[in-house]
Amino acid sequence: MLSSPLESDVSDTRLLIGKRKMSSQGSPLSCAEDIDAHTRKRPRNLKQAHFSTPMKRTVCSECQMSYMQHMKSDRQLHDKYHRRAIEGIELGPTNSLLCNLIERHQLKSGVDGKIVEVNSESSKEISVAEEFLDIVNNILSAPQDNRDWSSDPNRGKVFMFVIRNKAVGICSTERIKEGKWMVYDTGELVPKQKIPLAIGISRIYVSHKYRRMGIGLRLLFAVQQHSIYGLTLTKYQIGWSQPSEFGGKLALSFNGVKHKSGKMLIPIYEER
Ligand SMILES: CC(C)(COP(=O)(O)OP(=O)(O)OC[C@H]1O[C@@H](n2cnc3c(N)ncnc32)[C@H](O)[C@@H]1OP(=O)(O)O)[C@@H](O)C(=O)NCCC(=O)NCCS
Ligand SMILES: [Zn+2]
Repeated sequence: MLSSPLESDVSDTRLLIGKRKMSSQGSPLSCAEDIDAHTRKRPRNLKQAHFSTPMKRTVCSECQMSYMQHMKSDRQLHDKYHRRAIEGIELGPTNSLLCNLIERHQLKSGVDGKIVEVNSESSKEISVAEEFLDIVNNILSAPQDNRDWSSDPNRGKVFMFVIRNKAVGICSTERIKEGKWMVYDTGELVPKQKIPLAIGISRIYVSHKYRRMGIGLRLLFAVQQHSIYGLTLTKYQIGWSQPSEFGGKLALSFNGVKHKSGKMLIPIYEER
């Protein structure tokens, strides 16, 4: 039985694990050493043949990659990374790789897509999911996520949203036992109240091009229905690890609850 957040006293909320703040979206990736030509000592009696330009790094506001714009190789590297972050990860010429179909789903725009579950016995599927999660961690400046799902489907799963031959959304989960309510506005935790949870959302990500089309929610519905064999979870058995700004908004729409004080709460847990 879930303990209702409505019985708790948020006005008396104190911090239990220090003040949690929604993690902001991303500090830049570190790709290359910054070289400041002006700080170097110059040998005497040498004439300057040309002006040296300080090699400034550009940080892409969308994919968060930091790169040297004037270097062709860096630009190309960024272009490739950017495309994958914004448009999704190419799965190759056929989709035969991903065969564990959960459901087909048509977006509001009319585009056909499908949700698949990554098969933990397929090393190819695992490596596609891991590559996608590495990009997500870079963009969110998040630490390495829990990858228990790759060895045992009972300890977590990965669901992906696929459009044509690209994975454009991903959600990785882990089995958990409990969590807490977090006040959405302040990031504070409701004290003295543990809530039983079954599944934690470790990472959830939708490529920029496909956001606000319902893919995030669809992935969460798949988590509800396919995490534990033969069981459909309630929304309140699913918790969030350190929700980002956008993650918090999705959480609010998926399983936020209104406390009697009028404040909105979301279920969260501490990732292992
Ligand atoms: C968070 C994220 C996965 C949401 O995916 P999405 O497919 O765009 O979400 P949905 O379209 O299913 O949104 C469902 C509802 O959530 C809320 N929501 C989601 N993103 C929102 C946003 N940027 N601003 C306001 N509300 C938002 C809305 O209520 C939305 O319904 P609506 O579009 O009908 O108003 C996506 O923004 C993302 O990948 N962000 C970067 C990664 C990240 O922050 N992950 C979360 C880590 S906890
Ligand atoms: Zn970029």
